[in-house]
Amino acid sequence: LCEELVLLDIKEGLAEGKALDITQTAALLGFDTKITGSTNDYSKTAGSSVVVITSGIPRKPGMTREELIGTNANIVKGVAQNILQHSPDAIIVVISNPMDTMTYLTLQATGLPKNRIIGMGGILDSARFKCYLSLALGCSPNDLNATVIGGHGDTTMIPLIRYATWNSTPVSSLLNEEQQKQIVADTMVGGATLTKLIGTSAWYAPGAAGAALVESLVRDQKRLFSCCVSLEGEYGQKDICLGVPVVVGKNGWERIVDYKLNDDEQALFNKSADAVRNMNDVLKTL
Ligand code: 2OP
Repeated sequence: LCEELVLLDIKEGLAEGKALDITQTAALLGFDTKITGSTNDYSKTAGSSVVVITSGIPRKPGMTREELIGTNANIVKGVAQNILQHSPDAIIVVISNPMDTMTYLTLQATGLPKNRIIGMGGILDSARFKCYLSLALGCSPNDLNATVIGGHGDTTMIPLIRYATWNSTPVSSLLNEEQQKQIVADTMVGGATLTKLIGTSAWYAPGAAGAALVESLVRDQKRLFSCCVSLEGEYGQKDICLGVPVVVGKNGWERIVDYKLNDDEQALFNKSADAVRNMNDVLKTL
């Protein structure tokens, strides 16, 4: 995907070690990207086109993403300002949790144009939605179209089952009510299920989802993804970053697509926005 990749961490030697480990796979996997690691030296990241922020502490079993705010807000703010200093033209992808609030914080801390700040939650949540749908339908996840909008939180995300299709057939005509409810519920706790099993945050699916987003940016693919972006009246909300379907290309998120929510879906979206806004208000107290 890129000519050069820089990993940066605060833990002495960690990023350098990971970079070397990945570099040692090059002859096996057939890539020639230059990969370097850096312990907290942002000058090594200078001139980046895309920066992905995953900094902060991950969830422990039983924790919500929202409980991370006190620690992660300070970390993400500092990271965002360092990025801006060395890569003023970068598009910033935010993965740190609580992701919707961290995206909002990054937008405020950098003052960058809104299209260059993208929170990665909905792509992951939509992939998890397709995973549970494919298990219930006994079908390939690649033949499914399914989207999760709203917040990236156990109670704030909205799997849009009414819009989900197996190729063109609505899944609502293939699954009974109970199955549909179960799939929606499993999707919403998709991350929490993993923290319970492995003791920390998931990484393969979040990593793959982050990579899909970066690919659409650097290859200007114009993929339609659910991402957390700044809303200015779209979907009835403003002064907030929340997950909605967007077209992703070389300029960042390029436009928001209006899915024409019904009243129930809009009510869920508004409820999700209220919860995220309450979390954003916590930023003022830190
Ligand atoms: C997840 O849902 C880490 O928030 C991320 O797995």
